[in-house]
Amino acid sequence: KSISLDITKAAQFLSEGTVKAYEPAVKAAREALENGSCPGNDFLGWLHLPSEITPDFLKEIQDCAEVLRKNCEVVVVAGIGGSYLGARAVIEALSNSFAWLVNDDRKNPNILFAGNNIGEDYLAELSEYLKNKKFGVINISKSGTTTETALTFRLLKKQCEAQRGKEEAKKVIVAVTDACKGAARAAADKEGYKTFVIPDNVGGRFSVLTPVGLLPIACAGFDIEALVKGAADMEKSCGTDVPFEENPAAVYAAVRNGLYAKAGKKIEIMVNYQPKLHFISEWWKQLFGESEGKDNKGIFPASCDFTTDLHSMGQWIQEGERTIYETVISIEKTAKTMLFPEDEENLDGLNFLAGKRVDEVNKMAELGTRLAHVDGGVPNIRISVPELNEYYLGQLIYFFEVACGMSGLILGVNPFNQPGVEAYKKNMFALLDKPGYEADSKAIKERLAK
Ligand code: PA5
Repeated sequence: KSISLDITKAAQFLSEGTVKAYEPAVKAAREALENGSCPGNDFLGWLHLPSEITPDFLKEIQDCAEVLRKNCEVVVVAGIGGSYLGARAVIEALSNSFAWLVNDDRKNPNILFAGNNIGEDYLAELSEYLKNKKFGVINISKSGTTTETALTFRLLKKQCEAQRGKEEAKKVIVAVTDACKGAARAAADKEGYKTFVIPDNVGGRFSVLTPVGLLPIACAGFDIEALVKGAADMEKSCGTDVPFEENPAAVYAAVRNGLYAKAGKKIEIMVNYQPKLHFISEWWKQLFGESEGKDNKGIFPASCDFTTDLHSMGQWIQEGERTIYETVISIEKTAKTMLFPEDEENLDGLNFLAGKRVDEVNKMAELGTRLAHVDGGVPNIRISVPELNEYYLGQLIYFFEVACGMSGLILGVNPFNQPGVEAYKKNMFALLDKPGYEADSKAIKERLAK
């Protein structure tokens, strides 16, 4: 079994043959990725990563995760952007929705995420929560210098050392960073932390299948072998030798470019009907947003959680500006079964649902919404996932990664850089008087004083 793609309700918004007409461009893009002849070709390490990961490497990650699992009630993952979203997406998709409350048996440590914001309350409250808890830290930063993460790590390191003593703390602090560069590497080497390397040729948003994602996912108790196997199988399904129509990533890349260029659809809304998928959309938004949004081009990646957001964004989607399309991730089979009970009094008038599964109602909501939105002028792409487990999430991750690479190349941008991310950092450092930014500090302060 495999995840599958249905574009019929999107292709109907394009003139006949439009999607197929992208075949040569998609093929060229896929081959350029393979040959390394595309812009950003020094960041193609993700392309064959799933099939290149060895059992020994997975074992090293699992062993490290085991040490953290044994010694920690809580593991805090410090990271931002590509050094954060993939791990959170997979862990939340696979975890009990109430993991916080039901984790009393301590089979798995609670995994918390920090270093992805500079909220003083957030950090103070995290510190309060960690007080007197046995916690460990995974510090993830490819550059090793990202402010949000570095600042958080300094706080966590001090607290961990204060609570456990410096020597014990070393056993539960792990760094995932560059092989030689950056402050995170320097600190890890000096302190003697266990480290994992983020390969030079894998950019942050494509790094979930490196230790960046795999270590936190293993710590949470999930099967990283199955995750990688799913990705490796999808790598085969999206290879250069697979015919266009049979390659889901090629078709997805083609249809979204068609909708953008030929039908004026500038916004893609990633939709789910399972709250656990919220962070899959967050990860996807970064993947496509940072890869395609440049040179004044690119589809704006947005997301909604349905049916929740049908009661907030539903009106806009149904009748607002017709510049949107939807991509729905639909989970075929839920993990749990729950039936609606019969009620003698039927005060709520819901006896027509008695004996039905909750998921049947959800699926009808999905189908009804699809029909309504398509009738309202919103093209609909549907990605069907047989069930929520590590294997299919691995497939989904690789499918989106390779589709993103192809899609960006068809759009005519370098999908593997992110020059725009630097602008805010430069201003922030200038405002904070960071050494080395003296001229920028002077200029920005003069500008603000005007
Ligand atoms: O995709 C990217 O490159 C970014 O989102 C980075 O992952 C993010 O800025 C964090 O960078 P770093 O891992 O260097 O701390």
